[in-house]
Amino acid sequence: MGTPFLAFIGPTNLDGYNRSLPPSEQPSSIPKTFLDAMEVREEVFVQEQGVPLDNEFDADDARACHWVIYASINETTTPERQDADGNIVSSKQSITISKPIGTIRLVPFPHPPHHEPGSSYAADALETSSSPTTEPLPYIVDRATTYHDGKEPYIKLGRLAVVKEFRGSGLARMLVSASMTWAQQNPTYFNPSVKSMGMEKIGALLLDEIPVWKGLICVHAQEQVAKTWAKWGYKVDEGMGTWIEEGINHVGMFQRLNIEKQEA
Ligand SMILES: CC(C)(COP(=O)(O)OP(=O)(O)OC[C@H]1O[C@@H](n2cnc3c(N)ncnc32)[C@H](O)[C@@H]1OP(=O)(O)O)[C@@H](O)C(=O)NCCC(=O)NCCS
Repeated sequence: MGTPFLAFIGPTNLDGYNRSLPPSEQPSSIPKTFLDAMEVREEVFVQEQGVPLDNEFDADDARACHWVIYASINETTTPERQDADGNIVSSKQSITISKPIGTIRLVPFPHPPHHEPGSSYAADALETSSSPTTEPLPYIVDRATTYHDGKEPYIKLGRLAVVKEFRGSGLARMLVSASMTWAQQNPTYFNPSVKSMGMEKIGALLLDEIPVWKGLICVHAQEQVAKTWAKWGYKVDEGMGTWIEEGINHVGMFQRLNIEKQEA
């Protein structure tokens, strides 16, 4: 594998994405970088972990930022041909292709309520009705947990996946680091505009209640991967408890990034 490289796609209109079809059969209007992210997610979550294809794409995908990591791979298009005496008749021909091998997404606030401890859901069922909706989520006051007071806006990292044969080379670390660095460099990106939305829609009565991201990041981690997230600075939120998504135990974890003081 050559040096892997990263691509980024911000919030995008994904109208027309058919969640019952694989990425290779989506309409041409869907951006290639997003299709590449879905190709990795299909390989890892659907084929490897058994999540139904219909549950993999959700309403958060259009409002999220996605990163995709690629490997440059030599693929043989025509094999070498030899005659009966072993002489080479035509040499092997190959092309270099960029194969998507890892992905992560960053979902902005607002979010649905934290999962109830001990509950069981289809993948991200609270974020996804049976058909993805374009209705914006309301700003709510959630139950307080160990690291979240229920009110502070947080961003959420998720859908971290690396294709099996490329694991153990630091690609997941690279994806997590890229998304956190981006958030640190763009801290106001998801702050709602009072001018365009109005105070009521963003759940604020007073100016200091306007949601402003102050560096809090959450992950819903598969329990067997929590140790890996912990290596990257995330702490298990005991108050969130554990819950089951698609038969897989999950825990909530938080980390706070230092960001410059922002204006509302
Ligand atoms: C979890 C996953 C994304 C990790 O991808 P990866 O590219 O192999 O991860 P990295 O190589 O960056 O390694 C991450 C950490 O795990 C450790 N690690 C990696 N492979 C390991 C292995 N085989 N055994 C023990 N530790 C291992 C590394 O030490 C590394 O720690 P470091 O960052 O301090 O060096 C990948 O295994 C995956 O896609 N799993 C299936 C999907 C999934 O469970 N996603 C997470 C949902 S929360």
